[in-house]
Amino acid sequence: MDRSSALIQQLLAFSRKQILSPRILDLNTVVEETAKMIRRLIGEDIELVLSLERPLWMVKADPDQIGQVLLNLCVNARDAMPRGGHLTIATHSSNIDHEVMPGIVPGQYTILTVSDDGIGMPPAVQSRIFEPFFTTKPMGKGTGLGLSMVYGIVKQSGGHIGVDSELDQGTSIKILFPAVDEVVTEIEADEAVSITGKGETILVAEDEDALRESVAAYLEHHGYNVLKASNGEEALSVATQHQGPIHLLLTDVVMPKMEGTELATEFAKLRPGIPTLFMSGYTDHRLLEQIPRTNRPTVLQKPLNLHSLLAAIGGAIKKKT
Ligand SMILES: Nc1ncnc2c1ncn2[C@@H]1O[C@H](COP(=O)(O)OP(=O)(O)OP(=O)(O)O)[C@@H](O)[C@H]1O
Ligand SMILES: [Mg+2]
Repeated sequence: MDRSSALIQQLLAFSRKQILSPRILDLNTVVEETAKMIRRLIGEDIELVLSLERPLWMVKADPDQIGQVLLNLCVNARDAMPRGGHLTIATHSSNIDHEVMPGIVPGQYTILTVSDDGIGMPPAVQSRIFEPFFTTKPMGKGTGLGLSMVYGIVKQSGGHIGVDSELDQGTSIKILFPAVDEVVTEIEADEAVSITGKGETILVAEDEDALRESVAAYLEHHGYNVLKASNGEEALSVATQHQGPIHLLLTDVVMPKMEGTELATEFAKLRPGIPTLFMSGYTDHRLLEQIPRTNRPTVLQKPLNLHSLLAAIGGAIKKKT
């Protein structure tokens, strides 16, 4: 057994003892933290290429386990490229609306892909790779447990895994993790949050009339006083003219005239320290990255879950008072 497979064996042994501790994490961080070890494992004839999309939607998983998934996939890729080649680790987030893999539920996913340009696999091998103890490697070289462990971890994290491979063309292993809404998950965990208002004032900026009106009606029904605006500029003038306090700004991210992010910045100058909640479609995440991490915004995913909306508003206002 060479040094690197000994290392993998150690990691496997370690993982069996390990208590699963899933948390909300950025897969890019795990890739970056594991990259140094991967470089050591694959040697000098294989070039490691990282293609990491930023920002990524967060996922819920155990970072040590995801690290082990990566190491296993990379060792397999190395073994498939005895004469060198390219090993690519890619991440991206995507809204999936059709069955790209059997049994997949439409929704938002963060996808991790590990590809090589090695020997590839014939269909007969491909269909068996996740079976425990299935290996094509000589005795003492492989246990055939690598991918079955990977499969187990992916399933424990609520994810899906697929393989795409062609003989002599290389292999690509794709793992889809369901994206989690960081903030809403946290708020939902806090059951103590009171979710109806006591007459607090909320400024709602949303250019889509139907959504703005229904959110406003819903909030009024749950004890809030609502000020409405159909874009950022209008929201600022409403905030300037309104005499009483404003307890919270609820704004869409993408709006004509002035984006929600800019509105939030300008609003903070007028009314410092007032919490802001963003409502966002899945394509709007890049804009939010412009906001400094220190006042990282709370983002509610559209379509809005009205219960989560009330919980988020209740939580943000309570934190403030
Ligand atoms: N990137 C790849 N390219 C070509 N074949 C692969 C690749 N990854 C996996 N395989 C095939 O799938 C089989 C099973 O992989 P798995 O990782 O489960 O076990 P192993 O690598 O053989 O042994 P171990 O991981 O325990 O050292 C491999 O023996 C190989 O035939
Ligand atoms: Mg393996």
